[in-house]
Amino acid sequence: MSYSDSLTLSSLEKDPDPILAELRKHEPVCFVPALEMWFITKWEDVAFMESHPEIFSAATNPSFLARALGPNMLTMDRPESSKARNVMLPAFQAGGVAGNFVSTDLTELVDRTIDQFIEKGKVEIMRNFATPVSASALAIVLGLDSHSWEEVWEWCEGLCSDIANFENDPELTNKGNVARDSLGKVLTESLEKLTKRPNETALSAFIHSKGGESALSQEEIVNNVRLMISGGINEPRDGIGLVVKTVLEDPELREELLSNELLWRKCVEEVFRLHSPVGTITRQTKSEVKIRDKIIPANSLVSGILRSANRDEDHWSNPDSFDLHRKEGPHAAFALGEHRCLGEWLGRQVVKTASQRLFTRIEEFELKSNSEVKLRGFEFRGPLELNCVWGKRV
Ligand code: HEM
Repeated sequence: MSYSDSLTLSSLEKDPDPILAELRKHEPVCFVPALEMWFITKWEDVAFMESHPEIFSAATNPSFLARALGPNMLTMDRPESSKARNVMLPAFQAGGVAGNFVSTDLTELVDRTIDQFIEKGKVEIMRNFATPVSASALAIVLGLDSHSWEEVWEWCEGLCSDIANFENDPELTNKGNVARDSLGKVLTESLEKLTKRPNETALSAFIHSKGGESALSQEEIVNNVRLMISGGINEPRDGIGLVVKTVLEDPELREELLSNELLWRKCVEEVFRLHSPVGTITRQTKSEVKIRDKIIPANSLVSGILRSANRDEDHWSNPDSFDLHRKEGPHAAFALGEHRCLGEWLGRQVVKTASQRLFTRIEEFELKSNSEVKLRGFEFRGPLELNCVWGKRV
C-alpha cells in the first residue's frame, strides 16, 4: 500500500503540510482513493495544469459549485467563462469600484469595526473583526451594504455548506437553498432598481456593461455574485486571521512592520504563500495526460494543490520559513491560470489594511495567555479562533 492510499481528508484538514511534503518527495503525482481524486503537488506540474485548460477543464461533472450556486464563471471554460469574467473584473481592480472603496472607505470601515471592541481590552478576532470587515467590504463594493454584515455572512455560510455537501446531507442542501433563494431575491430586486437608476456600485457596473454580446443576463449576474459571496469573504477573513497570527507570534517582525508601513504589503504576500488560504483548485481531465511517470486517464478529477506548490523545495528556498524579504517572485495563492482570482486586488487591500490598523491602533495587542491558535482545513485553511487581549491603546 502506498502513502497516498492511506491518506484521509481528516488528516489533511488537521495538518496538511507534512503530508504534502511527503507526497512531493515520493509521489508528486498520485491518485488519492479517500478523495477519489488525483493530486498534483509540485509547482512545475501545477503550473502545467494551469496553462493547459484544454486538458484540465473547470466544467467538472459532477460540480458541487454549479449545483449550489448555479452555473458561473468557475464552472465553465473559455470562451464561455470569459463573458462574465470580462464584464466583472474591472469593478474589482484599482481603477474600478473597488479602487474607490479602498481609497475612500476601507480604513474607516476597519476603524469603525475596531471601535466596537477597543474599550473591552479583549476580542476574538475571527468572529468580531476578520468576518465583519471582510463581509462588509465585499457588500459595500457590490452595493449590498443596506444588508447587515451578519446577513451577508449568513448567505456566505449557507452557500458554502452546500458547496461542501459531498454526502448530500439534506440539512445542508436545505441551508444552501435558503441562502441561495434569499440572496437571489435580494439581487434580483437590486438589479431591477439599478436598471432604472445606475449608481457607483459593482452590481450597477455589471448590469450597465457594454451592450451587445458582452451584456450579462440577470441570471448570469446573480449566479456569479453568489460565487463572489461564497468565495470573497472567507478568504480575506482567513487571510486577516493568518496575518494577525503570524505577526502576534513574531515580535521582531512586528517591530519591523511598525517601523516601516511599506512592509505590510510584503508581509501579506509571504503569509499568502506560506499558508495558502485557498489550498486547491479542482479540474477534470478532458483527455488522458502523462505527468512525470503517471498517466492520468480522461475524465479524472484532479486537484492542483496550490498550498503544496507554494512550499515546493525545488521552487522556493527554505519554503517552510516565513521570510519577509523573500525575492523569489509571485506565489500561487490566487492561482496561476485563466480562473486566477477575480477579487485578488481587493482581497489583498482588505487583508493589509485590516491587519495594519489593528497593530497600529492597539499597541499592546497580544494573544490571550494559554490560548493556542489552531489552524483548520485543507481546501480552505485559517485560524479557528484568535483570542486576543491588550492594555494600552491609541
Ligand atoms: C484575499 C483572499 C483570496 C484568495 C486567497 C483567493 C483565492 C482564489 C483562488 C485560488 C481562485 C482560483 C480558484 C480555481 O481556479 O479553482 C479564486 C477564484 C476566484 N475568486 Fe478569489 N480569493 C480571494 C479573495 C477573493 C475576493 C475578495 C473575491 C471577490 C470578488 C474573490 C472572487 C473570486 C472569483 C469570482 C473567482 C473565480 C474566477 C474565475 O473563475 O475566473 N476572491 N480565488
